[in-house]
Amino acid sequence: MNFAFTEEQLELQEMVREFVEKEITPIAGEMDAENATRPELFKMAADMGLLNVIVPEEYGGLGLDSVTVAMMYEELGKGCAGVATSMAANSLATAPVLIAGTDEQKRMWCDILNDGGLAAFALTEPGAGSDAGSVATRAVHDKENKTYTLNGTKAFITNGGIADIYLIFANTRKDGGIRGLTAFIVPKGTPGFKVGRKEDKMGIRPSNTCELILDNVVIPESNRVGREGQGFRIAMQTLDSARPFVGAVSVGLAQAALDVAVSYAKERKQFGQPIASFEMIQEMVADMAMKIDAARLLVYRACAMRDEGVVFTKEAAMAKCFAADTAMEVTTNAVQIMGGYGYSKENPAEKRMRDAKIMQIYEGTNQIQRLVIANKVMY
Ligand code: CAA
Repeated sequence: MNFAFTEEQLELQEMVREFVEKEITPIAGEMDAENATRPELFKMAADMGLLNVIVPEEYGGLGLDSVTVAMMYEELGKGCAGVATSMAANSLATAPVLIAGTDEQKRMWCDILNDGGLAAFALTEPGAGSDAGSVATRAVHDKENKTYTLNGTKAFITNGGIADIYLIFANTRKDGGIRGLTAFIVPKGTPGFKVGRKEDKMGIRPSNTCELILDNVVIPESNRVGREGQGFRIAMQTLDSARPFVGAVSVGLAQAALDVAVSYAKERKQFGQPIASFEMIQEMVADMAMKIDAARLLVYRACAMRDEGVVFTKEAAMAKCFAADTAMEVTTNAVQIMGGYGYSKENPAEKRMRDAKIMQIYEGTNQIQRLVIANKVMY
């Protein structure tokens, strides 16, 4: 076990930190109010290689390891968890193609990301959330014309309205079930493929979250990723890879909240002294710091296991669950330490508290993570 980072990792971390402090943190509140991000941020992120972090070198990317990617996502999470979510969705959507795609699919997909494009992962539906196997979107195979026709609706899709390329899960079996779940690539602009309602969310408002409508969308057979019926396994392996990254964003969110609360506590005077001198504040700060460190270590462990190629499903679920719970607790306590000032929209603390909530919900609720962990521990 090596706890030291390489020069290269530290340089990348510093580069992202500077970008976040200069370009994201100062406008996070405005983007939150506008319920939208700024397209120029993606342009800058693309130039820095932040949109294709998991693209392997052979497909034109940096071929970064997961620990380094987690370090970068933590920095993004410090500035704005919404922007971080949008950028991390590129990794989430790319994983299925890297796991099961053909060389041609990988090349096509990665080229889009290398050119600064955005991607979306569309599994969730109005009736299929935690029960991912109950996807109702249908894919009907036309063997003669070598095509699939997709019909259905996807819900809560990150980058849904702004992505250039989509990874869509649909069922090839009439009677549904996980054995029919299949992954498909659907490019933006495919006839019949429409962006539906944009969500007006509680938090991570700079990230774009939309409904997607597939109305007789015809795609070539060559856009199927993996075999028919392989989709559930691909989705689960993808979520294993992506959950530690949700943990990383959560750690960044929590760390930023703690840093601001500590500065405030040192300056804010009550009863004639800085509130930082009160033991009840110190206890909160100590607990916040301990949990953030523990969450960060769980994230790095899950990422390191992924890079080693060993099974890490349980560790990925632990990292996501613990880090998300930590983000919720720490951001709530940061507001508590800052009192009325923390509760005011004038201050970024309340945004972080709203942003933290989704960490316990998306990419598998924390109840689902606990289910995965308990199954692995007991059986
Ligand atoms: N890796 C590989 N295979 C796996 C796997 C994994 N991690 N987990 C399950 N499988 C396989 C099993 O081995 C099993 O295969 P066999 O039938 O061949 O034995 C099959 O998948 C079914 O497994 P389960 O019986 O465990 O499946 P289940 O129906 O009980 O569901 C679940 C398991 C954990 C609840 C799963 O449905 C799940 O993770 N649900 C949550 C979905 C989720 O995370 N959605 C998030 C959407 S993405 C998002 O939020 C993105 C965003 O916009 C930011």
